[in-house]
Amino acid sequence: MNAPLPAAWLAGNDEPRFQLSAHPDHDRIVHVTIDRDALLAFLHEVRKVDVQNLEYVPFMRYELASTLARHVGDDFAATVNGIVKDRQHGGFTVGLQELTADADDFVRFGTAIGHLLGPGNHDAMSGTYYARFVVKHTDNSDSYLRQAYRLFTMHTDGTFVSEATDWLLMMKFAERNAVGGESRFLHLDDWEDIHRFVCHRLGTKPFLYKAPGSKNVSDSVERPLFFQSEFGLSISFIDQFVQPRNREEAAFLNDLSTSMEASPGTREVSLPVGDLVVLNNYFYVHGRAPFEKNASLFRELMRQRGTLA
Ligand SMILES: [Fe+2]
Repeated sequence: MNAPLPAAWLAGNDEPRFQLSAHPDHDRIVHVTIDRDALLAFLHEVRKVDVQNLEYVPFMRYELASTLARHVGDDFAATVNGIVKDRQHGGFTVGLQELTADADDFVRFGTAIGHLLGPGNHDAMSGTYYARFVVKHTDNSDSYLRQAYRLFTMHTDGTFVSEATDWLLMMKFAERNAVGGESRFLHLDDWEDIHRFVCHRLGTKPFLYKAPGSKNVSDSVERPLFFQSEFGLSISFIDQFVQPRNREEAAFLNDLSTSMEASPGTREVSLPVGDLVVLNNYFYVHGRAPFEKNASLFRELMRQRGTLA
């Protein structure tokens, strides 16, 4: 497949301060490499913006996006938006290239990238527009998010909230004693069984979603699995929070989930510390491989979700 990168993304800047390449682990994902001097200039300029200021004042999040765009060049915002909206690609990775190990710098960079796309959604788990969470050896939570040793099954984000979730961003903050735990991504057009599920009577019938207590969301939302969006055939699904009404619906959902897990289109993608991935939440499902057991396992991630401006 290896869809070519549109030339328009690369043109128009006399001195491009970023480059695009195919991601080594997933041929639809674009890896964006920002010029190191541009990154350093961005980090230096925004270091005066403290993270609490970003949490309390939404317009400051856009200030970071504008500062990054100024240092990386005019084409940068259009390029990353173009990638996320392009059905052939729909996702990218970009990182800080070990220029900093400061978690506040990670928050600032992730915020800037997210707000080049559009406003971040409120994350009810953290109470602000992003959430940091740790995966380690022991966990007593009520969902797979922080459970290291089992497969975190393929899903979309935002299934149980009524607001739209157009994109999601995940950034790795720290990782120690971690073997396994790769991110797993499936683009709908790489899922060979999809039409069997789309054409099924239950494929477009609304299902009920309810979140567990830790998500701090009390709504229940009804939405179909498959629907048409501006990006074409789209999906909304998470096995943990969808509430089947009977055995037939349960068997259908189980079959669909099993098919996504086993699809050859599902690829494992590694993410270094200081790198982030952005995916279009309409035509990608994502999950996580299990980690190998280790009492000292530690991984910290940040997530942001939002809409396209
Ligand atoms: Fe997720």
